[in-house]
Parts: sequence; C-alpha cells; structure tokens
Amino acid sequence: MKITVIGTGYLGTTHAACMAELGFEVLGLDILPERVAALASGNVPMYEPGLEELLRKHLHGLEGSTGRLRFTTSWEEVGDFGDVHFICTNTPQRRGEFACDMSYVESAFDLLAPHLKRPTLVVGKSTVPVGSADRLSRRLAESAPAGAAAEVAWNPEFLREGFAVDDTLNPDRLVIGVRSAEAEATLRELYAPLIDKGTPLVVTDFPTAELVKTAANSFLATKISFINAMAEVCEASGADVVQLSGALAHDTRIGGRFLNAGLGFGGGCLPKDIRAFMARAGELGADQALTFLREVDSINMRRRSRMVELAREQCGGALLGRRIAVLGAAFKPDSDDVRDSPALNVAGQLQLQGAQVTVYDPKAMDNARKMFPALNYAESVLEAVTGAHVVLHLTEWQEFRSMDPDELAEVVAEPRILDGRNVLDPQQWRDAGWTYRALGRPS
Ligand code: UDX
Repeated sequence: MKITVIGTGYLGTTHAACMAELGFEVLGLDILPERVAALASGNVPMYEPGLEELLRKHLHGLEGSTGRLRFTTSWEEVGDFGDVHFICTNTPQRRGEFACDMSYVESAFDLLAPHLKRPTLVVGKSTVPVGSADRLSRRLAESAPAGAAAEVAWNPEFLREGFAVDDTLNPDRLVIGVRSAEAEATLRELYAPLIDKGTPLVVTDFPTAELVKTAANSFLATKISFINAMAEVCEASGADVVQLSGALAHDTRIGGRFLNAGLGFGGGCLPKDIRAFMARAGELGADQALTFLREVDSINMRRRSRMVELAREQCGGALLGRRIAVLGAAFKPDSDDVRDSPALNVAGQLQLQGAQVTVYDPKAMDNARKMFPALNYAESVLEAVTGAHVVLHLTEWQEFRSMDPDELAEVVAEPRILDGRNVLDPQQWRDAGWTYRALGRPS
C-alpha cells in the first residue's frame, strides 16, 4: 500500500514521517514549493522534538536513510502514486467569525479528485465540523474519474504539539469513521503495527468520528477552564488553587491531567475548535447544548486580563513606561507555535497600555517577531529581565523552571515575579527576596 499525505504542516509532516516509520512508501504534497524544498532537504519548518530526526531517517536521497519518504508539489504524481491519500490541511478559525475555514480541506479534495482514476481511499485527518465528511464524500464521488470507487473515510488525529511523534506512533486510541467494510479493512491493514501492539481501535460512522475530535478538545478546554474558574474563587477567598487541584487529582474519577490552573489554553487547536464547535451546533439547531463552551472561552480569556491587572498592580497602578520582562512566547513549552498564544496576548496588551515589554522564548522568537514585530525581544532570560520592574513567567519552559532567583535578583530593577503557570516554587523566590504572585494563589 502506498500512501500520500496532503498538506505538510504540523499534522501532515508528522503523519508522513510516522507512516514511513511504520514501513510505508510515502509521498507528501504541499502547494508551497518552499515548504516542499525545505522538507526535501531534511529541514522541518517548525520546532517539534524528534520530528526532524525521523524525517531524515526516511527521507529519499539522504545517505543511510530508508528512502521511503518523498515530497512533491504535483497533484498528478500524488494521484498516480497513492492507494490511500491522507488529507492533513488545516482548518483555521474564519476571520471575525467563530466558524472554521474549510477552504483548505475543500480545495485539497477538489485538486486531488481529477487525479483519482482507480479505486482509492481518501482519509480526512483534519479537524472539521460534523457533517463535513459526508459532504466531501459526495463532492468527491461527483468529481473523481473513479467515481464512488474513490471512497472517503475520517480518521481524526489527537496529537499534541511537543509530543507529536510519540502521540502518532503510540496513540491512546485510533478512531476511524467509515462507510464500507473495504475502507475499514484498508485502515486496519494500514494501522496494523499499532493495533497489534494493543492500541484500541474505534470504528464509527462519519459524524461520530468527526465529533470524537471536537468533543475531546472541548472536554480538555472545559477541564482547564474549570480549574481556572476555581482559581478565580481561590483569589476571592484566599485559597490556593495549586493545593486544590492537587487534592482533586487524587480522585481517580477526576484525575490530575489538564487540571493545571494558570494563564489558560491557547494554540492552533483548543480555542478555535471550541468556537467552531459552537458555530456548527448553531447551524444544527443544537446551540443550547454548547452554550457552556462560551463560558469556557470567557473564563480562558479572563485569565489573560487578570494577568495584565496583576502586572499593573505590581507596577504601582500604572503601566506607562514600566519595564516588563515576559518569559515565554510559545502557547506552551516544547513548541515554537505562537498561534493564539496567551503569553504574547498578555505581552501585547501590556505594551498597548504603555509598558516597555521585552520578550524571551527559547524557541518561538522568530514566530513571535513575525506576529508581534513591535515588541522588544531579548536573546536570553538574563537580558530580558535586566532592568525589569516586573518579570512575568507565562510559558513553562524547563529553562524557566530552573531559573536561579538569586542570580536574577541582581539584574532586575525590582524583584517582582508573576508566575502565570504555577510551576515555580514560591518559597524559593520569596526566600531570595522576590515578591512572588501567581494566579489563584494567596499573596
Ligand atoms: C491539543 C490536544 O491536546 C490534542 O489532542 C489535539 O490533537 C490538538 O489540540 P495542543 O494544542 O498541542 O493539543 O496542546 P495541549 O497540550 O492540549 O495544550 C493546550 C493548551 O492548554 C496550552 O496552551 C497549555 O498551556 C494549556 N493547558 C494545558 C493548561 O493551561 N492547563 C493544563 O492543565 C493543560
């Protein structure tokens, strides 16, 4: 079985490399020639631990590689090559709306269709509004020369940035939405190396498969906003949200994962997925079922405003001209992704209100500069905090967790730190003479 992967962003590049790792011949396609050129020369255009090594292990033309993985911009080549085509294009939020932009997925189907001349399986992996697979399936059957023999399946992906390779090769579960025994058999054969080692396989219809992904992301977002709502109550009552979540986590029905209170969720998935889900529920006349997600979103955004408020408080009530160091730009550690980054959002708000903001991040500086060119950027923690009136710790990189409060105290203008991720040790910082404040914890 030969595989193609259409769209070589985060999802597609990871999927292509992992399918090669499972032993398949893989051809990746992107419409961006510079993206294809970078991948073909062994460079992954985003930071993802382990991905570049895996790409190089299988990249065609590299000495010592298996040669199973190639990249192209040619739809014709893709049509000739693949028995199974994975659609991995992105579905961003539409500008000014909650709904997701399906144009990349739709155009992938439309551009592929004329080249599907023999029976093939087109497998959607992108996160899409429920009902999309059915619609795309009809569209494909109408426009592919192979007609209904070019079948659609939906196989949502649950990978997390920072763990993308491991999540793909060792997933918690595989979900496949299919309409025929043949499609199921093809996907079973394809994922046999994972199924054989015990990965649960859930076989569903199209809408259920689509919903598993949006429901999972909504649940995770809700869990984070739940604990952040508790953080608000903790702030009002003098309780400590870190102890609270630790105690809740002992209840195995609740569990401790995704129960870390702080600046809340960002990134290219959770925020836009819950909004697109609300929009789709509205179209289906089921909007009441998801009104709680509006609150999940609001709680999440309030954490950012609260951090700005705390920074202002620490600056004596006015931000104008105050120097603020922001540690972290990526939406989470081990990623260079700054899409909907809570850290950059806070940095931007502070700057708009007159503060002089200097940002440092171990990996996301280039992307941050592109998105927020007007902020100042430093090359190290020490450079960022030098002369700062307040230090904001907003993305919990390992480098920040192991900062030395004594060393930093010598270069700041005032030793004040706000821990937006609740991972620093308050006692250690206070012992070194710092004013330590965090979201949801007593001052
Ligand atoms: C998410 C889903 O986890 C993944 O299954 C899906 O395929 C894509 O979306 P990702 O966006 O990579 O993955 O990040 P994730 O690890 O889920 O974190 C999302 C955000 O939540 C980050 O901003 C993180 O800082 C925040 N978060 C996470 C918290 O604020 N508290 C937590 O306890 C956990």
